[in-house]
Amino acid sequence: MYKILKKQKWSDTIYSNWIEAPFVAKAAQPGQFIILITNQKGERIPLTIADSNAKEGWVQIVYQVVGASTLELSLMNEGDSLYAFVGPLGIPSEVENFGGKVLIIGGGIGIAPIHPIAKKLKELGNYVVSIIGARTKDLIIMEDKMREASNELHIATDDGTYGQKGFVTNIMDDILKKESEAIKDIWAIGPPIMMKMCTRVANEHNKQIWVSLNSIMVDGTGMCGACRVSVGGKTKFACVDGPEFRGNLVNFDEMMLRQKQYCDQEREALMLLEE
Ligand code: FES
Repeated sequence: MYKILKKQKWSDTIYSNWIEAPFVAKAAQPGQFIILITNQKGERIPLTIADSNAKEGWVQIVYQVVGASTLELSLMNEGDSLYAFVGPLGIPSEVENFGGKVLIIGGGIGIAPIHPIAKKLKELGNYVVSIIGARTKDLIIMEDKMREASNELHIATDDGTYGQKGFVTNIMDDILKKESEAIKDIWAIGPPIMMKMCTRVANEHNKQIWVSLNSIMVDGTGMCGACRVSVGGKTKFACVDGPEFRGNLVNFDEMMLRQKQYCDQEREALMLLEE
């Protein structure tokens, strides 16, 4: 169980694994996530599902090596098995046929979790306008899959090596200036600062926006409180109340501060692993 069926390296730090997990694949819905553990002593890693296939029984995950646990995961090979792969967790995205256009924005590694949402929205009959962006061309991931899942695809890179030079928010603002009325709902997933900026643009156009919060998680069942975030002035748990929330209500500054809480421990763990 939980065998790595396929593994690909997409950049210096970004990898994708296809995991044999038939029960998770059968139940997975857009917006949901899994928690995996590489070995008996491993840390829990929450990752939003990038794609799944109920018939073939696999779930695709995309991850960036940012610490000891993701480094360990990246060192596992095709044919190896994970110790645990729990899910699907979290509340699925509130997708339906909105009778118009929807705007989908994925930044960096956030392109992976936005993919199933775009795919489902298109399947439901929406006209999907997607924007994907990254720092540079090599970090644009899943372009083909996003093209397939969208009716229109826009690309932005910070350094202008691919697509339009600039940020996803520049394209988002241009689109909303032209067709704010036609856009029925918006999803944005990426680094917290990107989701904060997308929310600012949405607010300027009086639009609602969904964001997916990747706060620190431990149990993933609403028990430990590690993933707490402030939404509309209330404490919410990203693992059971989310991970998607209306960005317009999220306290991003508090979330970003909490995410930096364990940076020193992360560095220490990475050093120990590399020794
Ligand atoms: Fe523990 Fe959400 S991860 S409450």
